[in-house]
Amino acid sequence: MNSNIARRLKNLPPYLFLEIERTKRKAAKLKRNIIDFGVGDPDQPPPFHIIEALYRAAKDPLNHRYALGEGMLRLRRAMADWYKRRFRVSLNPENEILPLLGSKEGIAHLPLAFLNPGDYSLVSDPCYPPYKTGTILAGGRVYSLPLLEKNDYLPDLKKVPRRVLKKAKLIYVNYPNNPTTAVADKNFYKELIEFAKKNNLIVLSDFAYSEITFDGYRATSFLQIEGAKNVGLEFHSLSKTYNMTGWRIGWVCGNKNLVSALAKVKSNIDSGIFIPIQFAGLAALEGPQQHIQKMCRIYEKRRDILVEGLTSLGWQVKRPKATFYVWAKTPAKIKSLDFARSLLKKAGIVVTPGVGFGKYGEGYMRFALTLDSERIREAIKRLRRCYGNGFRS
Ligand code: MLT
Repeated sequence: MNSNIARRLKNLPPYLFLEIERTKRKAAKLKRNIIDFGVGDPDQPPPFHIIEALYRAAKDPLNHRYALGEGMLRLRRAMADWYKRRFRVSLNPENEILPLLGSKEGIAHLPLAFLNPGDYSLVSDPCYPPYKTGTILAGGRVYSLPLLEKNDYLPDLKKVPRRVLKKAKLIYVNYPNNPTTAVADKNFYKELIEFAKKNNLIVLSDFAYSEITFDGYRATSFLQIEGAKNVGLEFHSLSKTYNMTGWRIGWVCGNKNLVSALAKVKSNIDSGIFIPIQFAGLAALEGPQQHIQKMCRIYEKRRDILVEGLTSLGWQVKRPKATFYVWAKTPAKIKSLDFARSLLKKAGIVVTPGVGFGKYGEGYMRFALTLDSERIREAIKRLRRCYGNGFRS
């Protein structure tokens, strides 16, 4: 048997959050009391009416068969209505919306529909890993768009070389941004749409954190900008808005030709979303939405505790307007991976090293606010205790 793995898999880095999970499990085996700021996986449950909808639908024997096709039309209508209510964007549920097994799935599969070997995806760096890995799996090449603090973590589109643009097909953007927490306004999207038109690119906007915003800030959807539908798609997820990460349900919407190309890829790979989960998604989108505000207030309070705590220890950290992350500069001249290791070893604290999101993430650490305030206070105490006299690994 020739079990040599394919080059495309060899080129793929290990999945960042799986690595973090493994490190955490190892530490847990040693019975360490770990404070986990690693993966952005909400600690609150989904609202109860969503769980009830799943249960009701699961009791119907008819709901256990393949869910072939583009998902229930009722669900796609609910997705369209949600976009209309929230962003005043009109979408045709018949052909401009496609439910996904979580937005990660669609993001990672999309390059299979558009990239030929050697084509480029323009990908922000640091970024959510599937933009890069989906490109690599499709035989494409990644061109990094540095997200720098001095540019408010927006890519400088003018710096992409002509030779790359000639072979580029996709550009991924993600605001509110994971991991930097930056946000984008209408002017950025206008510039992006012009850039895409001029260079014949498909814009892929990952909008998973649209609802996790603070201090009165409301996120702008790429699809709100004139011309967006001619050049791209937006990915949305129920994971963060409704605390449904494990359920695997999200959607993509926008240009109908692009939606249909991804649907063709998916029809050859998966067999749809388990029908009771589609009913639960429907309940989430159509049901009461008050929990979103409450949830944001919880994250806001945690954000303040962490930002104030880190600042009191001399860290440089900005108060984010959105997402449930805090993006902090490493407080010493030490590589972010070494610092993350040191935090785990000395203080029992798991954080994601910025370099895990790309080379321009070096020098930063990402804290996920998906743990309760008491644990955050405890983390600050541990940091003070372990590093009070300076930061040494
Ligand atoms: C993260 O920690 O960046 C996210 O939770 C990962 C994801 O959404 O898949």
